[in-house]
Amino acid sequence: MEKNSLHFYFKFTAIALLFLNCTKFGKAARGPSPALGKGTWQLLLNNTGVVAMHMALTHYNTVIMFDQIESGQSGYRLSHRHNGTRCRGTREDLEDSSCYAHSVEYDFLRNKIRPLHIETDTWCSSGSFLSNGTLIQTGGFGHGARRIRYLEPCAHGHNCDWKQTKRLLADDRWYSSNQILPGHDQIIVVGGRRVFTYEFVPRLSSNSFKSYDLPFLHNTYDKNEGGNNLYPIIHLSSDGHLFIFANRDSILFNYKINKVAKTFPRIPGNGSRSYPSTGSSVILPLSHSDLFERVEVMICGGAASDAFSAAQHGRFLPALTSCGRMEITGNKHEWKMENMPGPRLMSDMLILPTGDILIINGVKNGSAGSNSAANPSLQPYLYKPRKPFGRRFSVLRSTKIARMYHSSAVLLPDGRILVAGGNPNNRYIFRNVPHPTELRLQAFVPDHMDKKFDKSRPHNVSISSNGNDGVGYGKEFSVQFLLRNTRLRNVVFTAYAPPFTTHSISMNQRMLTLRCRNLVRAANGLINARLEAPPNPNVAPAGYYMLTVVNDGIPSVSQWVRFIHA
Ligand SMILES: *[C@@H]1O[C@H](CO)[C@@H](O)[C@H](O)[C@H]1NC(C)=O
Ligand SMILES: *[C@@H]1O[C@H](CO)[C@@H](O)[C@H](O)[C@H]1NC(C)=O
Ligand SMILES: *[C@@H]1O[C@H](CO)[C@@H](O)[C@H](O)[C@H]1NC(C)=O
Ligand SMILES: *[C@@H]1O[C@H](CO)[C@@H](O)[C@H](O)[C@H]1NC(C)=O
Ligand SMILES: *[C@@H]1O[C@H](CO)[C@@H](O)[C@H](O)[C@H]1NC(C)=O
Ligand SMILES: *[C@@H]1O[C@H](CO)[C@@H](O)[C@H](O)[C@H]1NC(C)=O
Repeated sequence: MEKNSLHFYFKFTAIALLFLNCTKFGKAARGPSPALGKGTWQLLLNNTGVVAMHMALTHYNTVIMFDQIESGQSGYRLSHRHNGTRCRGTREDLEDSSCYAHSVEYDFLRNKIRPLHIETDTWCSSGSFLSNGTLIQTGGFGHGARRIRYLEPCAHGHNCDWKQTKRLLADDRWYSSNQILPGHDQIIVVGGRRVFTYEFVPRLSSNSFKSYDLPFLHNTYDKNEGGNNLYPIIHLSSDGHLFIFANRDSILFNYKINKVAKTFPRIPGNGSRSYPSTGSSVILPLSHSDLFERVEVMICGGAASDAFSAAQHGRFLPALTSCGRMEITGNKHEWKMENMPGPRLMSDMLILPTGDILIINGVKNGSAGSNSAANPSLQPYLYKPRKPFGRRFSVLRSTKIARMYHSSAVLLPDGRILVAGGNPNNRYIFRNVPHPTELRLQAFVPDHMDKKFDKSRPHNVSISSNGNDGVGYGKEFSVQFLLRNTRLRNVVFTAYAPPFTTHSISMNQRMLTLRCRNLVRAANGLINARLEAPPNPNVAPAGYYMLTVVNDGIPSVSQWVRFIHA
């Protein structure tokens, strides 16, 4: 009896399930992929309270924004200071920084902000997520320069807030960069203003807080041009080494033994790419198809030579137009240059769920820094890395709102790009300046998120894994989803590490195209994909990733998946 029912079960499922091939949908497909339009803009809030100098999306679907804290008034006035004393209407209190919020949590599902409290100055600092989704933030200005702060994100209705550790960094970290390392929750902090070292946080093995000299930072320093090597660009390569780029030069760095493993050729172009020349960078999506071995870096825009000093004299030189792409793995390294549709610096570069690159925010002339730029870049650019050379860039819909120095952008799980901030002034100034402080919050909606594509869009995506804590490296997990039309075409599964974004650098941003082992469609239409987690933490450091099902170039809403050291 037992045996019979089992037999019946197998027979039944064999009929009800349709086995599909993970990769061969292109063959069944007819006609070209949809032609995409230019996207749209939404105004979400008129006042975010604080300038989103720094912004990061948490796995609770909140966005943490913060500014410097000593700038006097912000756009969010508090009725009481953090220590409980009342903020009155006196001139003194109206000028007192502690009567204003300098950080907020934005809940994009409810379109609401909540004030957060930061104790010491976070001006031009850096950050990263730990493997459990805790946001770690390092450095800043003055008393904040050696501080380490944590925020354990929380669900709606809870009151998570910033905490400051007693432990201090070894060196001041103002304009430094972070990268999470493949080891257990270790972060490297590199550089900073007049600081030519790196250090590790949290240091797991010892109590002595030590920094290490990095001669590369001395060699790339332009003393008379504001440095041109601050906020160095860091990417973790899938061989476990760090790609570090500053000014015009780059190295492959073995941080474990403090050795430069490789020196790459200088990027062409008459100008620099690091702060205050502020270009931006991504590593192009890593793919299971080459076992994640091939890593290619892309750097776009920057400032002309001498742009910083020219700006001090009111001359705003045109920004760099060029981008460079270089493979950092293998043995042949050469920058392949191509031009954006226009000159640009201080832009954000984000990897979209489709694997295309969005270049958004920024300006056409000048340099980063207070009052140092002109001519905002109002049109985002889309870059399709797999198209033939010369056909990769397109120009998207213009916004009316300038996003200059101290603006930022992050990708949301619903496929929109949140755009916030902008303040080329030293305080919150709304009148009688060429470029006032900008507190409006916008979303850019790429055309692939438009309703007209809903018939191709995978929906009701859910993830199941065996463990509750996450998926171990190389382990299998399942993704279920539905499609309105029955046709699957070139289905791709991408995983995206949410970055910490500031000063055009999206720290820790990376995207992976995951291997699909098989696809099964049940009689009720539910499609089940068995996917393989990335093979190791060099490819994808442990933590929360946004998983997206992309069908024929149309992405689903993303769901969170956590990759863990099993
Ligand atoms: C922002 O302010 C403008 C002008 O007062 C108003 O028309 C608009 O509805 C406001 N938008 C939002 C999202 O609050
Ligand atoms: C509260 O904070 C304000 C501003 O920092 C300070 O002037 C005041 O002395 C504090 N009061 C108490 C009771 O701690
Ligand atoms: C996350 O990890 C950090 C560092 O190990 C730890 O301090 C924190 O308590 C953890 N948070 C949660 C929510 O587990
Ligand atoms: C590089 O640009 C600067 C202005 O930023 C200009 O003075 C100089 O002539 C240029 N050099 C070359 C080789 O084009
Ligand atoms: C920006 O650069 C262009 C090209 O050199 C120049 O024509 C324009 O006047 C500059 N704009 C400003 C505002 O300086
Ligand atoms: C799909 O998701 C929608 C919205 O969350 C829900 O109303 C619907 O019941 C789901 N459909 C299925 C078949 O699970």
